[in-house]
Amino acid sequence: MTFPHVRPRRLRTTPAVRRLVAEVSVEPRQLVLPMFVRDGIDAPLPISSMPGVVQHTPDSLRAAAEEAVREGVGGIMLFGVPDDADKDAEGSASWNPDGVLNRGLRALRDDLGDATVIMADTCLDEFTSHGHCGVLDGAGRVDNDATLERYALMGVAQADAGAHMLGPSGMMDGQIGVLRSALDAAGHQDVSLFAYTAKYASPFYGPFREAVGSSLQGDRRTYQQDSANRRESLRELELDLAEGADIVMVKPAMSYLDVLADVAAASPVPVGAYQISGEYAMITAAAQNGWIDRDAAIRESLLSIRRAGADIVLTYWAAEAAGWLKRGTW
Ligand code: PBG
Repeated sequence: MTFPHVRPRRLRTTPAVRRLVAEVSVEPRQLVLPMFVRDGIDAPLPISSMPGVVQHTPDSLRAAAEEAVREGVGGIMLFGVPDDADKDAEGSASWNPDGVLNRGLRALRDDLGDATVIMADTCLDEFTSHGHCGVLDGAGRVDNDATLERYALMGVAQADAGAHMLGPSGMMDGQIGVLRSALDAAGHQDVSLFAYTAKYASPFYGPFREAVGSSLQGDRRTYQQDSANRRESLRELELDLAEGADIVMVKPAMSYLDVLADVAAASPVPVGAYQISGEYAMITAAAQNGWIDRDAAIRESLLSIRRAGADIVLTYWAAEAAGWLKRGTW
């Protein structure tokens, strides 16, 4: 009796055979590092809810970005943390050429040129006094179309500052089309749009509030997607493609791998996924408690996001994981 003949375990017997048959892998070029630059500090400031991640000074940003590029990351997504005094109801510091984010972009582009892809978060929440991604109407609701006008100003200022790619993350209807028109009118035809296409309202953004010093009043449920919904992401995909998105994104990543798989199957353009602050914090906290193996959990999480269909992964571990890959310690 020699049964079973078919033994899937044969392809799991050694590390070499597992490596041979692995369906997906991670490469440094696929990893994008989100970074924070802050005004008014003279040393990098740790973010307590994201152990290992800091708010950078303009100088430490440049050094850390160069290091990440040496490790081979595919890009850098920059967020600005303005002084509280520079926040207002409109988020006007976001389109000031001397605002913290635009100065950071200029510094990165000066240092790095085209050696990596410099991306900018195009969203008002870091810059508004109320912490919403847009401006509010008289009743305190986020006003979609009035917000689009500000996104256009912000996006052009970011392109002027040297961003190769904008990441509109506010989930306003029409944001991709408005940014495309504004960039083209300003002569920035080659600046591309990495659209946050399917962005869900989620408690997993919690640590990001501390990262950008924002105290959101209320929630985002009137403009970000409801976690009960899957199909609606395909509608968002159609719209963003029609409006001119160059790359599309699903966010958060780990709670939305089904959505990511749907979008990846339907998208004719590259697909990204953002492993957000709360995902980072969960793995880090569990590892600090000795409950999980940190590095193995990071590897598995990144592989699962690739397996679900992401071509590009935004992760706070981008530089570290790229280093493992480069040195063969993945
Ligand atoms: C909006 C923006 C956010 C993130 C990326 N762009 C925050 C939010 O929508 O609440 C999330 C990043 C993270 O949580 O790691 N500026």
